[in-house]
Amino acid sequence: MTMRKPMIAGNWKMFKTRDEALQFIYAVNMEVPKREFIDTVICAQAPVLRDLVKRQGENVRIAAQTMHEETEGAFTGEVSAALLENIGVEYAVIGHSERRQYFNETDDKVNLKLHQAFRYDITPIVCVGETLETREANKTETFVGDQVKIALQGLGKDQVQSLVIAYEPIWAIGTGKTATSEQANETIKMIRDLVKTLYDTTTSEAIRILYGGSVKPENIESLMKEPHIDGALVGGASLSPKSFMTLVDAAYKQ
Ligand code: PGA
Repeated sequence: MTMRKPMIAGNWKMFKTRDEALQFIYAVNMEVPKREFIDTVICAQAPVLRDLVKRQGENVRIAAQTMHEETEGAFTGEVSAALLENIGVEYAVIGHSERRQYFNETDDKVNLKLHQAFRYDITPIVCVGETLETREANKTETFVGDQVKIALQGLGKDQVQSLVIAYEPIWAIGTGKTATSEQANETIKMIRDLVKTLYDTTTSEAIRILYGGSVKPENIESLMKEPHIDGALVGGASLSPKSFMTLVDAAYKQ
């Protein structure tokens, strides 16, 4: 089996001022393990991205939390992939459930955004995940499967191998309810199998799939032990350097 490099991505959401963001990056820069072993990514609010890129240590990389699907135009308040590339941002979170819920980010838009990200050399971290209702109706597989299929439509193998999927069950985000490691692994394996059906074995073994939803220092080890979970997209527990570093170290040592 291919060895996939783990990733821990901290999603700060709408938290931290510029000063707080810079304090954080200075605190973790020297602590983060080498990039050849683990990808450590911080997803921050747009106005602070350039400052973070300038100060990122050798082994830290910066992500936008969203980006627009068009190259430029009259889209007040939006951020373009061209600008992100221009300021040295390397990743963008696309289709986060909060974007889907509050900002009308549909599956079709997610797909357009993925294509746009690749035009500008931005690596997408694309989020999928079901509501509690969907899970309880035993429709997780169809629902998440459709999200993945639409998101990847029209992308080539090489692109799919390089991108990152984050499986985040909505009922586990910010609620303190984590999916059990087994539940997370099961759905992530389903996504990997689907990628194999849509593309091939090489692609399904190369693509990294993270788990997200109430990941904390207390549950990261058991999540990382699962064969299909390649890392985590972390909200709340990424806000303090100490807990963020515990997560990075646990994923690195796994
Ligand atoms: P959480 O958020 O870790 O606070 O549950 C995860 C996410 O929304 O990416």
